[in-house]
Amino acid sequence: MKDKSILFNELEVWIDDLVREKASKLNKLQNITKLLKEEIEYYNWVGFYFVDKENLEELILGPFEGAPTEHTRIPFGQGVCGQVAVDQASHVVQDVAQEDNYLSCSLDVKSEIVVPIFKKGNFIGEIDIDSHKVAPFTDEDEVFLKMIAEKVSELL
Ligand code: SME
Repeated sequence: MKDKSILFNELEVWIDDLVREKASKLNKLQNITKLLKEEIEYYNWVGFYFVDKENLEELILGPFEGAPTEHTRIPFGQGVCGQVAVDQASHVVQDVAQEDNYLSCSLDVKSEIVVPIFKKGNFIGEIDIDSHKVAPFTDEDEVFLKMIAEKVSELL
């Protein structure tokens, strides 16, 4: 695999192009998930969760790329995604076998990173990445995903 910083810089340019395209917001989000899953070999599931506007204590699954998940709604506090909703801070789980508050999607998933998305200072959703590798995530992934969270926030 290419050096992460080179790859992430290239992907940032592609994501800027995707965000500027004439397409619906949903299509843009879907294209971002597709791009990340295709280009980053250890990103095996890439998806968005958004706060349910009718139940502000629950997340709803948005566009995603990868295996279908039974976790289409996640109450705040449950699993890694639910913890991020409560803490409003990124969580990195390098080995899901060591995490008590974890909702399993598939036995193939070994690690997860979840980064919150804010709009005008309010928590509105998250980017969730599952990997089939143990401990693939570094600070670079977190910085990269925060950058994407900001771009997504602008397009919503
Ligand atoms: N593992 C997540 C559930 C969502 S799936 O990864 C798609 C969690 O613990 O919140």
